[in-house]
Amino acid sequence: MNCGDEILLREGVPTDLHAIAQLERASFADPWPREALLAELQVDRLRRPLVAENDGTVVGFLMAWSVADELHVINIAVDEGWRRRGIGTRLLEAAIDAGRGEGSVLATLEVRAGNLPARAFYQRHGFLETGLRRRYYQDGEDAVIMTRRL
Ligand SMILES: CC(C)(COP(=O)(O)OP(=O)(O)OC[C@H]1O[C@@H](n2cnc3c(N)ncnc32)[C@H](O)[C@@H]1OP(=O)(O)O)[C@@H](O)C(=O)NCCC(=O)NCCS
Repeated sequence: MNCGDEILLREGVPTDLHAIAQLERASFADPWPREALLAELQVDRLRRPLVAENDGTVVGFLMAWSVADELHVINIAVDEGWRRRGIGTRLLEAAIDAGRGEGSVLATLEVRAGNLPARAFYQRHGFLETGLRRRYYQDGEDAVIMTRRL
């Protein structure tokens, strides 16, 4: 799928691991280990990885699970230099469209309570804050549960 002049969205594949691991490290204080990222780059019954590319360079990715009639967004990051240019939106909407196509009726995710930019991003996309998992992360931070009916 071509999403404009500069950015191409496509399915993530195992050879994207290096670029995704770099983005993950640059974006999160507690990045996922490479093995965990690699596991998410297998397209299978559950997993729906997506990457955003500019001129052959990965500038964003999204990982989601399709579980029964729910889409679980489990990881998303955009290169810092490319943020606020709609790439996160394109990734999220593409995942949601795909989920809808597979019968998902709800999208759900967890986000660090202190990650206000991400909470604002999801709210902008119609997600509501529907719950809290206390001390969900290893460092003791709470997770906010956000959901959107599809
Ligand atoms: C969250 C993230 C993926 C958003 O990607 P993005 O490409 O910058 O998002 P978009 O440009 O599509 O933003 C769409 C809207 O979301 C909201 N938004 C995005 N970033 C925001 C920020 N830093 N502060 C407030 N609102 C924000 C805005 O409403 C924005 O629209 P606008 O730019 O017209 O105001 C990106 O900030 C990121 O990679 N963050 C680090 C990793 C992370 O925290 N991931 C989430 C884990 S749960």
